[in-house]
Parts: sequence; C-alpha cells; structure tokens
Amino acid sequence: MTVYDVIDAKKKKRALTAEQIGYFVARVADGGATDSQIAAFCMATLLNGMTEEECFYLTDAMTESGERSPRPAGGGVFADKHSTGGVSDSTTLILVPVLASLGVKCAKYSGRGLAHTGGTLDKLESFAGLRVDLSPAEFEGQVARVGAAIAGQTEKVDPADKHMYAVRDVTATVDSVPLIASSVMSKKLASFADIILLDVKYGDGAFMHTPEEALSLAQLMVRIGERAGRKMLASVTCMDEPLGDGIGCNAEVNEVCAILRGEKENDLSRLSLDHAARILAAAERIPLEEAEGRAYGALRSGAALKKLGEIVAAQGGRAEDVLSPLPMAEHKVVVRAAGDGYLRISALALGRACAALGGGRAREGDPVDHAVGILLKKRQGDLVRRGEALAEAYTRGGAEEGIALAEGAFALSDQKIKDRPLVFATIGGKE
Ligand code: URA
Repeated sequence: MTVYDVIDAKKKKRALTAEQIGYFVARVADGGATDSQIAAFCMATLLNGMTEEECFYLTDAMTESGERSPRPAGGGVFADKHSTGGVSDSTTLILVPVLASLGVKCAKYSGRGLAHTGGTLDKLESFAGLRVDLSPAEFEGQVARVGAAIAGQTEKVDPADKHMYAVRDVTATVDSVPLIASSVMSKKLASFADIILLDVKYGDGAFMHTPEEALSLAQLMVRIGERAGRKMLASVTCMDEPLGDGIGCNAEVNEVCAILRGEKENDLSRLSLDHAARILAAAERIPLEEAEGRAYGALRSGAALKKLGEIVAAQGGRAEDVLSPLPMAEHKVVVRAAGDGYLRISALALGRACAALGGGRAREGDPVDHAVGILLKKRQGDLVRRGEALAEAYTRGGAEEGIALAEGAFALSDQKIKDRPLVFATIGGKE
C-alpha cells in the first residue's frame, strides 16, 4: 500500500478500510506523507465525503498517532467541553470555575485563536504571569488540588491532527464534516474526560452555516464519543452575532469576570450556565432543574469567582485580578450608526476586525495583542438611530483596516430580522 493508493481510492469515491486509513494517518504522523498528499486526501474527503465507519477509523488512527493524557490521581468524574469555534465565546472561562466550585473536576485542554475565532489559552494569558504550558505532572496536581486546570495539549498528543489541521487551514479544507469530527474527537479521546459536552456552532461566524449542518456534525461526534465509551452531550448553538459583548482577550476576560461577579447577565452567561448545568446533571445523575439551581447558586454565592481566582493563581497569575477589569488599549474609536433601523451584526466581520486590530492571528505562532478589542454597545435586532454608538474599538492607533472592518460588521434594515435560536438543539442529558 502507498499513500498515493489511499488518495486515489478516496478520489474514486471508494470507502476506505481501517488499514488504509491507519496507514495514511501513520504516514502523516511520521512525515512519510508530503503536505501535497495530505492536501489531496483532505480535498478528496471534503468533496466525496466519508462513511461513518471511515470517520470512526480516521478518529481512532489520529488518537493513536500520539500520546494520551494521563488520568489524574484521586478519582472523581472528569468533565470536558469543546466548542467548534466562534467569536466572543468565553463559555469555558465561566463553566469551568462554576463546575469546579460544585465539585466536578475539569481537566480542560484548550486551544489558541486562529483567523476570526478567539482561543481560550490566549484569553487566559491576559492574566499577568499565568502559564498555560503546564507539564502533565503540574496539570494533574492542579486538577487534584484546585479541581480544575486549563492548559494546552502537549505536542505529543495527536500529532497527526496538528499536521493535518495546518494543511487544511491553508487549503480551504477545514469545513468538511468528517474532517472536523475526526479532528475534534481524536483530541478529546486522547484525554480521559468521562463527560464531554460539544458546543457545535452554526451561523455567520461558524464553520457550519445552517443549524441542520451543525446538527449532523454534532450527531456524528456524539456517536464517535459514545462508541469510545464516553458520556456525550451536545448543543447546537447560534454564532450569527458574537456570543458576548466583548471581542478580544482582555475585553472577553473582563466580561467573564463581570458575569462571575454578578454584574452582568446575557447570552454568554446563560449559555455557559446551561452547559454547566447539563454537565453537572450528568456527573451527579440529578435532574436538570436541580443542576440549574446549583449552577446559578455557584454564581450568585461568589463561589465560581473565587474558584476562577484559585485557577488563575495556581497557574502563576494573581487571584485578585479577577476582581477588577484589565486595561484596554489607549485609543478608543466609537463606531456609530450610519442611519436609522434595526441592527444586523456579523460575528465573522467583528472577529476579523479584532484580528486586524492585532487581537487575533493569521498564522499559528503569531503574537496576539491582549488589550485591543471591541466592545458591543448594541445587539442584533436593536432599533438604533443615526449617530448612536454601536461599538467601541480599542486600538494602538492608526488601525484603519480594523476600524473599517468593524464598521462593515453592522447593517441596518427597515424590518426587525428574525433571530435564529441561540440553542437550536441539544443531544443527550434528558434520560
Ligand atoms: N476545531 C478543531 O479542533 N478541528 C477542526 O477541524 C475544526 C475546529
């Protein structure tokens, strides 16, 4: 068998065997497949699809391509949550301290932002001194001691995905259901979480544009996880407009802390607590209503805020930084309504605007400016008048491209647009 044979079979729309897929992924991991061959395989898969069996084989082979994260000592139920990526989606930074304060251990491996989407690790690094490159021993120790740790998976976990994702990113082959499902689930299965909640985004700022596409991706990932013996939960949620009001690292961390201090309630807080309650209900085998009560209680009592401070301090930051806002960049530009009408907001455009201001990265490894960002002053569907402030952009000065992109993110219409539901569907957790 050769790599060429496997690509040729996929090109001819044949269903690949476990051996063919295993061989291909092993060559991706050991460098035996060139980037052009990986690109050809990904494009053939994007165009011709995969059966569910092929997707299972691909996930298994990618999981097996590297090391697995060791299960921390001390027992307990471990929870994980993964979002397929969006704009102003800081749910992890809310649900992890909520759950940990309620005794559900969160050993959370997160990623960095790419293109228009933000990444949890970048946001966490807004806290001065905080480290996300924890060694396996540090990670396990912190989970056992504090109840939660949020860090990057080491280079040794799922190397096949790292290589394939880098090629997909530059060859327009990210938005394939089998490739996303195997990429996400291979990383999740290399870890030890007992309960995994997937937040699969649809809409303007997401890889999946319709809720139906997102639902079929969610269903496939749930089946992959269940086949591996994990308790799977999924939510299909809307990413037409940003989830919260802050876009950019410090802006999002400030919003998270304001929510945990009980100063703010919005779609971001509601979705985070919704996810937390579903995980808690599954972990403790309690009714969802009871879990919701406990999750909201952890927020109201200040226990979740205290827990976030403990996580920040355990990873090298200062616990007191959760109590007051982090600084934003020195230049403020107000984006105003160009006329009267009902507001439509593009999450994609605002994510790109933030990246152009310096708050995101075009290539893996690029630096990110934590203090630049955008604060929304209005939400989609609001009736606005000419000249009203829609958003504030915080810049380092001379940021024409980012400001122009931010201005282009807002459109006005005579009729109120019909909002698509924030939560389109959920899977699991009702039994
Ligand atoms: N997130 C991932 O980890 N992989 C994908 O393919 C898409 C989103």
